[in-house]
Amino acid sequence: MRRAAIIGWGDYTPPAVLSNMDLASVIDTSDEWIQTRSGIKERRISHVSNADMATAAAKQALAAADLSGDEMDLIIVATCSPDRAVPSVAAYVQRQLGGVGATMDLNAACSGFVYALSVANGMIAAGTVNRALIIGAERLSSFIDLQDRTTAVLFGDGAGAVVVEATEGPEGVLSSNLHSDGSLSEILTIRGAGTEGVFDPDVPHTVDMEGREVFRNAVTRMGEGAVVALENAGLDVEDIDVLISHQANIRIIDATARRLSIDPDTVYTNIHAYGNTSAASIPIALSEALDQGAIKPGDVVAMVAFGGGLTWGAAILRWGDRVTRHHRIEHDLPGTDKTGLELLAARVRGLDLA
Ligand code: UT7
Repeated sequence: MRRAAIIGWGDYTPPAVLSNMDLASVIDTSDEWIQTRSGIKERRISHVSNADMATAAAKQALAAADLSGDEMDLIIVATCSPDRAVPSVAAYVQRQLGGVGATMDLNAACSGFVYALSVANGMIAAGTVNRALIIGAERLSSFIDLQDRTTAVLFGDGAGAVVVEATEGPEGVLSSNLHSDGSLSEILTIRGAGTEGVFDPDVPHTVDMEGREVFRNAVTRMGEGAVVALENAGLDVEDIDVLISHQANIRIIDATARRLSIDPDTVYTNIHAYGNTSAASIPIALSEALDQGAIKPGDVVAMVAFGGGLTWGAAILRWGDRVTRHHRIEHDLPGTDKTGLELLAARVRGLDLA
């Protein structure tokens, strides 16, 4: 059966670090609270646009696949923090990479990467495209509300990317399932970043979240999604070699793994280093897991995600023979001499570092 296999991967994590101690210097929180409640130690704040981060990750993924941008039939950027409403971040990525394939952004919040992978797999299975770039890229630091300590400490910026190609072999996306419960749309929202904010500048353009409700739903729904995806792939929980979950909270990841009775050693996490990067978290984790040798040829990799909507989804993949990059390239973006806190201060009204 024709399906999508991942043949290239890459990531871009901005150099400016925002530590828990940095946050504790400007809001009423502590390193101890943040680490205990979320597992986060630090996150990155971007000095470049979403599109630049997305392109940097994409260039790495293309080099890893030994392909170029104009060989892509499709570019999907999963994001809920695009630079502009029009055109898409994906169009800007294509502008930097070349090519005339289809481009689109996909907003399923933190589930965006699993959604985009599933969409690309469907288009490959239907024969519409042969190769696609799937990117998760977010600049959520733009939406941080420092008056709300329950959300301000959670989010960070970054991008991850994969190149997928049609295969008739045993590797690739074995199954996926995508869901959403729109009745829960208000428990996680960024209201003013859409047209609501254009018509009423008083609508805040910051994250508004009922953390406990999101937490509860996340554990249940990601577990359900994984079980259904495994069944559809004809596999059991014991067949999972590596679980890559959306990195929102280490307690959510641990609870999901327990619910599934998964061996904790199979769970890859990097939330301590980047916080919640929404749609970028799974491809960044995947890229790091591969580079650290955590994924072996033929491994069964499970991806599970949840996010605003409330969306959730899961994908089961069998890895191919190659777990190393064809080429490894350095990023060509300019650096910054600003700290994470300085970059955040420039973006957040009312934050005076003096
Ligand atoms: O990608 C999808 C997006 N979102 C998520 O995945 C988030 C899901 N939810 C969560 O991760 C957790 O609910 C949070 C990390 C947001 C919060 O953890 P919690 O264990 O649910 O804490 P809580 O909201 O129940 O708050 C417990 C206490 C409260 O104090 P009181 O009322 O018990 O006195 C909060 O005011 O912790 C307090 N608190 C803080 N204290 C220090 C909340 N935020 C902070 C903070 N620093 N940053």
